[in-house]
Amino acid sequence: MAAIRLGDVAPNFDAETSMGPLNFYDYLGDGWGILFSHPADFTPVCTTELGTAAKFKDEFAKRNVKMIALSVDGAESHKAWIKDIDETQHTTVNFPIIADEDRKVSDLYDMIHPNADDTLTVRSVFIIAPDKTVKLTLTYPASTGRNFYELLRVVDSLQLTAYHKVATPANWEHGQDVVVSPAIPTEEAKEMFTQGVEEIKPYLRMTPDPSA
Ligand code: BEZ
Repeated sequence: MAAIRLGDVAPNFDAETSMGPLNFYDYLGDGWGILFSHPADFTPVCTTELGTAAKFKDEFAKRNVKMIALSVDGAESHKAWIKDIDETQHTTVNFPIIADEDRKVSDLYDMIHPNADDTLTVRSVFIIAPDKTVKLTLTYPASTGRNFYELLRVVDSLQLTAYHKVATPANWEHGQDVVVSPAIPTEEAKEMFTQGVEEIKPYLRMTPDPSA
């Protein structure tokens, strides 16, 4: 399977999960989704990641984002592992983990990188918009746990830039000034962004976060 690139339609699939069988598109409904893979059950970094993801569920839900995880172990293994995650991370894993024993979904999403490990999935992340197009992909090695604050930050940027003609600068966080889209002439931008536009350079115009 070729790698999935930004703008591609996220492939649909049916899968067994820790919460029973599901269809991916039905699970996502009309909202946003984050699909993220883990190398294996009962591993330390993954345990901390899933515990952290569970604690972030409300923040993602506020943004209409549903989470779904994946590893190549089976559903019974996932259920036993979730008990450990809940106990050790002091949380409740409250989203499904795909049991991808036949690697159908891992292959579909190119989550196995054989030169890193030919059996386990790498740490992939796909952020999927309501129209089912892929808006972000990330690939981390097994040895590096992901930053869920960064995933929330990216969702904020994606949702802001989907509805306003702006882009978000380096290290931007919700509420901070944003960049006016380069396609908009400054005079037009001044009419569009009533909170004001600062022209630092003709190609670098800043305006307050229109969603704040
Ligand atoms: C972990 O989740 O801790 C892990 C998994 C596979 C390789 C290395 C670390």
